Amino acid sequence: MKFLEVISSFSSLIAIVSAVPASLPITKRAALDDFIAGQTSIAANGVLANIGSMGARSYGASKGLTLASPSKSDPDYFYTWTRDSALVFKALVDRFIDTGDTNLQLEINNYISAQANLQTVAGPTGGLSDGLGLGEPKFLPNGSAFYGLWGRPQRDGPALRATAMVAYGRWLLDNNYKSAATDIVWPIIKNDLAYVTQYWNQTAFDLWEETLGSSFFTTAVQYRALVEGSGFASSIGKSCDDCDSQAPQVLCFLQTFWNGEYVVSNINGEGEIKRSGKDAASILASLHVYDSDAGCDDATFQPCSPRALSNHKAVVDSFRGFYAINNGIANGSAVAVGRYTEDIYFNGNPWYLTTLAAAEQLYYALHQVDSAGSITITSVSLPFWRSLYPSAAPGTYKSNTGTYSSLANAMRTYADGFISIVQKYTPSSGALAEQFDKSTGAPLSAAHLTWSYASFLTAVAARDYVIPASWNAGTPKVPSTCSASPAKGSYAAATNTAWPDFPCNTATSVIVTFNVLASTSPNQNTYVVGSIPELGGWDAGKGVKLGADRYTQDSPLWYGSVTLDAGTRFEFKYVKTDASGGIVWEKGQGEGGTANRVYVVPKGCEASVALKDWFTS
Ligand SMILES: *[C@@H]1O[C@H](CO)[C@@H](O)[C@H](O)[C@H]1NC(C)=O
Ligand SMILES: *[C@@H]1O[C@H](CO)[C@@H](O)[C@H](O)[C@H]1NC(C)=O
Ligand SMILES: *[C@@H]1O[C@H](CO)[C@@H](O)[C@H](O)[C@H]1NC(C)=O
Repeated sequence: MKFLEVISSFSSLIAIVSAVPASLPITKRAALDDFIAGQTSIAANGVLANIGSMGARSYGASKGLTLASPSKSDPDYFYTWTRDSALVFKALVDRFIDTGDTNLQLEINNYISAQANLQTVAGPTGGLSDGLGLGEPKFLPNGSAFYGLWGRPQRDGPALRATAMVAYGRWLLDNNYKSAATDIVWPIIKNDLAYVTQYWNQTAFDLWEETLGSSFFTTAVQYRALVEGSGFASSIGKSCDDCDSQAPQVLCFLQTFWNGEYVVSNINGEGEIKRSGKDAASILASLHVYDSDAGCDDATFQPCSPRALSNHKAVVDSFRGFYAINNGIANGSAVAVGRYTEDIYFNGNPWYLTTLAAAEQLYYALHQVDSAGSITITSVSLPFWRSLYPSAAPGTYKSNTGTYSSLANAMRTYADGFISIVQKYTPSSGALAEQFDKSTGAPLSAAHLTWSYASFLTAVAARDYVIPASWNAGTPKVPSTCSASPAKGSYAAATNTAWPDFPCNTATSVIVTFNVLASTSPNQNTYVVGSIPELGGWDAGKGVKLGADRYTQDSPLWYGSVTLDAGTRFEFKYVKTDASGGIVWEKGQGEGGTANRVYVVPKGCEASVALKDWFTS
């Protein structure tokens, strides 16, 4: 009996575009490279598995909607979040543009179509007519409103969704699909931009959904959305005047989070926010405003900016010696990174995505200084550089100098260190949960967190200098005095989701997921057994054992996946077995109940398919 792990059908297409400086000792580097190569395909599959309706772990999620995690209890993440989905799809759009994997494009189109509908779903924060409903953070996985108590509104989601869609919109334009960009994608973006221009100056819950106030992360991604949204509008012959009027005000406000040493991640809290303000959300913000053409601009907190490097040190150092698993790690070496030290969620632990973000910022920073041809150390960034390279001194070091090489190598070694920490605490299956235990390093909280997998993909892409497109951040001028005169937006449902027929690569192998509702007793297992060797050749003992980690009384789900050649025709049945050798075959199908189930693996563009069956008793 074997449970076949889903095999990546596209990981071999990942492009390693350019040579990058390498400074780890060769053997260590090789071990890390091997881990990254294997983990990349696991992460890519991990993301796709959580996307409805064909993903291997997505049973219950509608087409184009992404589960935060398939976990339904302790914690229950069986919802789709606007923020998480947007971050994940931004990563998939960049990956599609890099690899040309047309299966990803199908997922992207489905995502966009699903968001057009989701924007119109009225829920507890309101509806579309005045934009309020766009601040709803999460929905049921079938796209219906979620009415439970929650930290709402959250205002980063619309901005991040606009950014993800602009990234795809640019590809459409560059590839002569202007009407898809204009008629399908733009109306959705336009609503999200209107939301930002209207509500950016009101408080909301932060990305961790805990703090009501103004969040640096939210403000940063809002600024980006306005700038690139306006640029995208121009490129399709439209305009976003409100984006243009609001962006400088948002940028001005963004500066107020800087305290001279680090970013105070949450301000304007109702009641006192009893925290230092050091929060990995600021590192995430730096990634999500990254622009390869913006240099080390402080105003937009670019990854290599003195501010962002000083902030990186402050945030990372706050976790030094703070978690037991970080004990004994020398200053200047990577440690496990959590959200913020006052965190009490699951008792406060490091997260995979924040540890990966610490690496990703530094890889982008390296790329930026590499493009600039020099490293400039200022009084603000000096402590950061000194912690990596004790003799660092203020000045500008051209890329042909020894000092530059030493600094860049030290930074790269430091960045790789964060990936090594993730490697150390990733189980051999490669599964990425949300957190890992601060004392034992064991995975914790939601299993298969989509955002954890996406973070892995973006961090290692950054390591290989696979760089997302510029959003024309430029080196903006910050107004000398801040003002706030938000613009009232106008909103309309985006109704066109008629995608053109894009050329696609026919999938040669397909991940086939079997989902079957089968009530079983505690000592029983469920298998899928069929006519082909992959399904045991009708030998009940050699079929594919299904998993029951989402089995409930109401939804007795057993599920599992096999990768099969497109076009394969097979017959099969579900079978229950017990420890003492008892075997219960399901009854036959069709009239008289004699026939086996029959399935032909589709020979099309999609690289995954999911069956939804009931055990026939
Ligand atoms: C979505 O699921 C909920 C809860 O299971 C259900 O009440 C609702 O009717 C469903 N909505 C749709 C559109 O199917
Ligand atoms: C609104 O903007 C003004 C000017 O930047 C700022 O002082 C204020 O804190 C902002 N309030 C919120 C809630 O964003
Ligand atoms: C790291 O630096 C801090 C502050 O500079 C110092 O107190 C601490 O002892 C150092 N830790 C190690 C392990 O060297």
